[in-house]
Amino acid sequence: MQLSPLQSRLAASVIATCLLIALYFTLFSPHFALATDLKQTLPILLDDPDSGVDLEYSVDASVRTSLDRSYEPEFAAFDRSIIGRAPAGVTSLANNVEADMNVIAGMTQVFAFEAPGAVERDRDASRLELREESDVIQDGESDNALEFSAVERRQSSRTIYISANTCEQPQPRDLSKTQPDPPQLTLYVSTDPSNEQPGPNAKSSSQVLFAFTEGAVMYNLTTDNVVYIGVHAPNVSTEYMGQYNVHIAASTDMFFHTFNIEEDADLIWVDSDSQGALLITHDLTQSSDPALQQRIMSSQPYVMFAHNKEDRSINGLKYSYCGLQNNAQIAAIKNGQFASMVRMGMTKRPPGNLPKEQFYFSGLNSSADYVGILAQEGNGTESGNGRPGGGGHVFRATSFSTKSDNGNCAIILNLTFCDQVAYSVPSNPENFGDATKLAEFYDKYAASVYSNFEKALAQVPCEAPMTQRYSLVRNCSDCSAAYKEWLCTVTIPRCEDFSNPAPYLHARALSQPFPNGTMLDRATLDQFPTTSAFNSSRNPLIDEFVKPGPYKEVLPCDDVCYNLVQSCPSSLEFNCPRPGGPGFESSYSVRKDGEQNGELTCNYMGSAHVFSGSTRQEVRWWGVLVSLGTVLTMIAVL
Ligand SMILES: *[C@@H]1O[C@H](CO)[C@@H](O)[C@H](O)[C@H]1NC(C)=O
Ligand SMILES: *[C@@H]1O[C@H](CO)[C@@H](O)[C@H](O)[C@H]1NC(C)=O
Ligand SMILES: *[C@@H]1O[C@H](CO)[C@@H](O)[C@H](O)[C@H]1NC(C)=O
Ligand SMILES: *[C@@H]1O[C@H](CO)[C@@H](O)[C@H](O)[C@H]1NC(C)=O
Ligand SMILES: *[C@@H]1O[C@H](CO)[C@@H](O)[C@H](O)[C@H]1NC(C)=O
Ligand SMILES: *[C@@H]1O[C@H](CO)[C@@H](O)[C@H](O)[C@H]1NC(C)=O
Ligand SMILES: *[C@@H]1O[C@H](CO)[C@@H](O)[C@H](O)[C@H]1NC(C)=O
Ligand SMILES: *[C@@H]1O[C@H](CO)[C@@H](O)[C@H](O)[C@H]1NC(C)=O
Repeated sequence: MQLSPLQSRLAASVIATCLLIALYFTLFSPHFALATDLKQTLPILLDDPDSGVDLEYSVDASVRTSLDRSYEPEFAAFDRSIIGRAPAGVTSLANNVEADMNVIAGMTQVFAFEAPGAVERDRDASRLELREESDVIQDGESDNALEFSAVERRQSSRTIYISANTCEQPQPRDLSKTQPDPPQLTLYVSTDPSNEQPGPNAKSSSQVLFAFTEGAVMYNLTTDNVVYIGVHAPNVSTEYMGQYNVHIAASTDMFFHTFNIEEDADLIWVDSDSQGALLITHDLTQSSDPALQQRIMSSQPYVMFAHNKEDRSINGLKYSYCGLQNNAQIAAIKNGQFASMVRMGMTKRPPGNLPKEQFYFSGLNSSADYVGILAQEGNGTESGNGRPGGGGHVFRATSFSTKSDNGNCAIILNLTFCDQVAYSVPSNPENFGDATKLAEFYDKYAASVYSNFEKALAQVPCEAPMTQRYSLVRNCSDCSAAYKEWLCTVTIPRCEDFSNPAPYLHARALSQPFPNGTMLDRATLDQFPTTSAFNSSRNPLIDEFVKPGPYKEVLPCDDVCYNLVQSCPSSLEFNCPRPGGPGFESSYSVRKDGEQNGELTCNYMGSAHVFSGSTRQEVRWWGVLVSLGTVLTMIAVL
């Protein structure tokens, strides 16, 4: 029978369809149940250097409840040679794609990674022909397609970056008992073809091993062999329950998961009150290029985790991005745990007036110690599988603490005139429950004093030719800036808990009631001199309107005053009290270099609790608004 071209095409497609259906059932039917149970994307293109992109390769290991060590990913439809040459019980890793695995205590999970391109030529050439041809074209290394069956490997040694993060670890059964933190995982790496199962039972000369540190490990090596990686979970005692969960990745570009605890002062604790804390990053650029600064100001490159030190659930996971993401109490990331408790933003406040990222926490517990950990999601701009460095970066932790519950200090920021102020000030929730109103109160007062100064400065010949000016090095804008900094520092006192015993703090308003109504007892009062420097605040308006009750003040640094005197015309008659002289001890503190133990001994714009590195200060003090008094007197004279 002759078939018309149309009929023969129909027949051909019917036959092909039947064959496909038959093939489909042959290959898939025994695996229907598993295929639905296992939430697993088949990494069918593992040999292909580019296939890793967008492959959400997540093996839901919780499905594997048995202790079956010979577990093998069910890539049933494909020949082993296509998957890669991972032996039984070994999971193939694709370049820059993390595998998500549970590891049961006492067990070892094994992975294999073959650098893309370092494929053996002679294996099953007919099956892989298409793939290899395209590989060759991509590489451009071998011009002659006929050559490659003879070539064992066409790439020389490459650096392989292996990294892993512990996302979950066993938890103590009884939280009331104090126990050591759960032990860390161990990474075993073998490039020895005779050791395809690196782990505690394999020959130690054929592998290297690294213990995880705080839930993270990074190891790079140069090889042209398949790399076998074992992740071994220690046999934890019966005091713990649960298993380990690990994210592991290998890359030929860079580490997929990273941590760096060497980097200096990545996160700076500026100040806190009883429920809040303010932290900033270092300057994100040193460049004064406005376009670059603008670009940085419109980004938010960092995320942050915060955790109460009393709670031990992040112990052992502090260098692991996913460990922090899953376990930190507050995660300042998109959709993070209690992310609403954090306001993140960019700022150019001092020091340096360069772009920084800022984290403002609220809803913290009072009198509590916290650990803050700065991190980057992915490489800061992109994250996830297929992106080199997509697993995240974790920086060194910073400690911070909150003030006491009955406290009368509150953080203010976002002021209009004193725009550089961002610290705790004397407050009283009864009178100023709203921090915005409190900020307005202080800001308005400073601005009103400044307007008097401007009138005085207007008398100085600022616009005169150079030779007639008051100084060759300072001009009137320098004077205005120095005055503003000094004014904001002295009119907006930096507040600490009255209970803080640090010797460099100055007690104020001792004879007034706390916000809760209690007064200091006689015995406490007798420890302090009965001068007005202790009996009242620096600025009488604070006692009149805010009524904070007894608090301690971090005195302004003396150099803030010296800078004012040096920057302004002598006709303005600014003077600073001298150290040891009358009034100094209740007005200023001396800035002193010394050990960086988080103490903030004097206040200036941009000061913060520094734990290592830069300069620091020491404090003494002096009477009520002495220098401001001078200014005001002088204004009256003018
Ligand atoms: C873990 O240790 C306990 C006793 O210390 C032992 O009974 C158990 O078999 C060990 N488990 C593994 C997986 O080695
Ligand atoms: C690992 O990386 C570091 C820096 O990235 C490099 O100095 C070192 O040589 C590398 N080691 C190997 C074995 O490639
Ligand atoms: C605050 O304290 C309570 C009780 O001690 C604790 O359960 C909670 O996790 C703490 N919250 C924070 C954010 O520290
Ligand atoms: C992050 O990775 C993407 C893609 O790999 C790259 O385009 C981008 O420049 C990287 N960003 C940084 C800050 O390295
Ligand atoms: C009131 O607050 C002060 C200051 O924190 C505290 O010492 C005192 O115990 C509080 N009194 C009461 C009754 O809570
Ligand atoms: C400060 O003001 C900016 C906008 O001017 C706002 O985005 C930010 O949330 C404010 N921060 C606080 C802590 O109020
Ligand atoms: C004052 O001096 C600074 C440099 O010290 C300069 O940038 C500024 O433009 C000067 N201002 C005026 C008004 O001359
Ligand atoms: C302290 O201040 C209170 C009012 O706040 C006042 O009654 C008292 O006389 C003052 N004492 C001294 C020594 O100034």
